[in-house]
Amino acid sequence: MIVHVFESKDQVAKAAGAIFAAQILKKPDSILGLATGSTPIETYAELVKMYKAGILDFSKAKTFNLDEYVGLPASHPESYISFMRRNLFDHINLKEYHLPNGLAKDLEQECRDYENTIKQAGGIDLQLLGIGNNGHIGFNEPNDHFVYSTNRVKLAESTIKANRRFFDSEDQVPREALSMGIGTIMQAKSILMICLGEGKAEVVEKMINGPVDPKVPASILRTHHHVTVLLDQAAASKL
Ligand code: PGA
Repeated sequence: MIVHVFESKDQVAKAAGAIFAAQILKKPDSILGLATGSTPIETYAELVKMYKAGILDFSKAKTFNLDEYVGLPASHPESYISFMRRNLFDHINLKEYHLPNGLAKDLEQECRDYENTIKQAGGIDLQLLGIGNNGHIGFNEPNDHFVYSTNRVKLAESTIKANRRFFDSEDQVPREALSMGIGTIMQAKSILMICLGEGKAEVVEKMINGPVDPKVPASILRTHHHVTVLLDQAAASKL
């Protein structure tokens, strides 16, 4: 695991944008794993900037998002498909993107299909991750074991509280999601994790210095051969 600490979150976004840009320039038909939440917003803005400047071409790339809420229509502003359209997809020339369908009739089958579609595409070349305050990656919440494949997840109370800020009331925060599993994430050829802000400092310290433990799901990343972690100073303040 390579860890870089930057003075500001703008610098983190520029560095993350550069890593994505290198991936796409090296392999225009890259399979990219994408994330939602506050963390990647500025990184996506960097990618849009590079696309508009004629530096990046997404037309041959395919993307797979980590997760999607169960039960939110795609038209809901807080669905992850809406988030992705707003922050990235509507502004670049990407032709093929995938998110799990949280409205599928058979959610378990949807999870199996999502996993298979990733495999058929050839697996993920570069997976972007944030980290939850509780150490989750995707929606893989603290657990007594690591869940392997794309799965249907009950969100932890701490996640529901953290996501409350995006909804009018806590009641409206979905309780379930479909998420790539830890195994799905670990099969990515390379992983780029971004952690920003003081609120993440404690869990970042546990991920980097604590034991590999399903109670801190992100700690498994220490066993992956190609992980780059980009931190701002606030997120690195307990290291
Ligand atoms: P955040 O979420 O980027 O909104 O902090 C990260 C996560 O929960 O993975």
